[in-house]
Amino acid sequence: MRSVDVHTHLLPPELPRWSERFGYGGFVRLEHLDACKGRMVRDDGTQFREVASNLWDADVRLRECDETGVGVQVLSTVPVMFSYWVRDPRHALDVARFLNDHIASLCAAHPRKFVGLGTLPMQAPDLAARELIRCVRDLGLAGVQIGSHVGDWNLDRPELFPVFAEAEELGAAVFVHPWDMMGQERMQKYWLPWLVGMPAEVSQAICSMIFGGVFERLPALRVCFAHGGGAFAGTLGRIQHGFECCPDLVAVDNPHPPSRYLGRFWVDSLVHDARALRFVLDTFGPRRVALGSDYPFPLGEERPGALIRSLELDARTRDALLAANALDWLGREARELDVA
Ligand code: CO
Repeated sequence: MRSVDVHTHLLPPELPRWSERFGYGGFVRLEHLDACKGRMVRDDGTQFREVASNLWDADVRLRECDETGVGVQVLSTVPVMFSYWVRDPRHALDVARFLNDHIASLCAAHPRKFVGLGTLPMQAPDLAARELIRCVRDLGLAGVQIGSHVGDWNLDRPELFPVFAEAEELGAAVFVHPWDMMGQERMQKYWLPWLVGMPAEVSQAICSMIFGGVFERLPALRVCFAHGGGAFAGTLGRIQHGFECCPDLVAVDNPHPPSRYLGRFWVDSLVHDARALRFVLDTFGPRRVALGSDYPFPLGEERPGALIRSLELDARTRDALLAANALDWLGREARELDVA
């Protein structure tokens, strides 16, 4: 069967010069070097990363999907485009609307191949909630991708709760992606923000939503965390023990233990190691792990689903990991999409 890849990123082929439009810097732009290559560049001219046309060209993406057996890509923006830092939230809303309209246009053009996730100006929860409604009701997106934190706010912040409540109400899927990694002042070398910071960011996001009572108060909210839930599964014993030995420190907002929420949320399969994927499956359950590749970036899985297919799984579990679990999280039916 063809698979559903819940973790892929894309950008529009042309990005507006937001720095010029808004009168201040900090935005990333896309420079084309030739038809197949480009680079994402910050205002100060420093390069964020080199990219290829599969980041912005739908035809290239569809061809590569055919080559690797991916039936459906779930599209989300590149997390560096989260504009939570933007001074005027209306500008952040402008950026989000531009990116969301673009994703929606691709989904409309290829409704059986692409499912879209929007992005929100989370620093302004009222604007974010309204844009979430627009994404789902007007644009037909399946939900949104949000960062592992929003400026100084972790995901337990009461300010953010109305956005999660709206997602539950709408039946919108929420994908949590690490970004703006912690501790960068001591992570200048060895690509440590990606190798050490990202797994910590995701675990911090999961812990914040559990201990902050978000899952407890919104039992129907459907959330998927990137990178197999980051460091969470590997350190769950410690997290659970901490809850039990020091409830005065940990159980301050939610009296229930972390173990209660295993099976309540999804994680993607992007762990690059068969033993790790088996452990993730064992921790979160066989119906809560969904193929995610981080296409088209180099730290992703080159052949999406290869790690899942490398495990000795019964056919039902394998198909669940490759497609059915993603559909459950997205709230979509197989017959609507190219997964048969
Ligand atoms: Co990613």
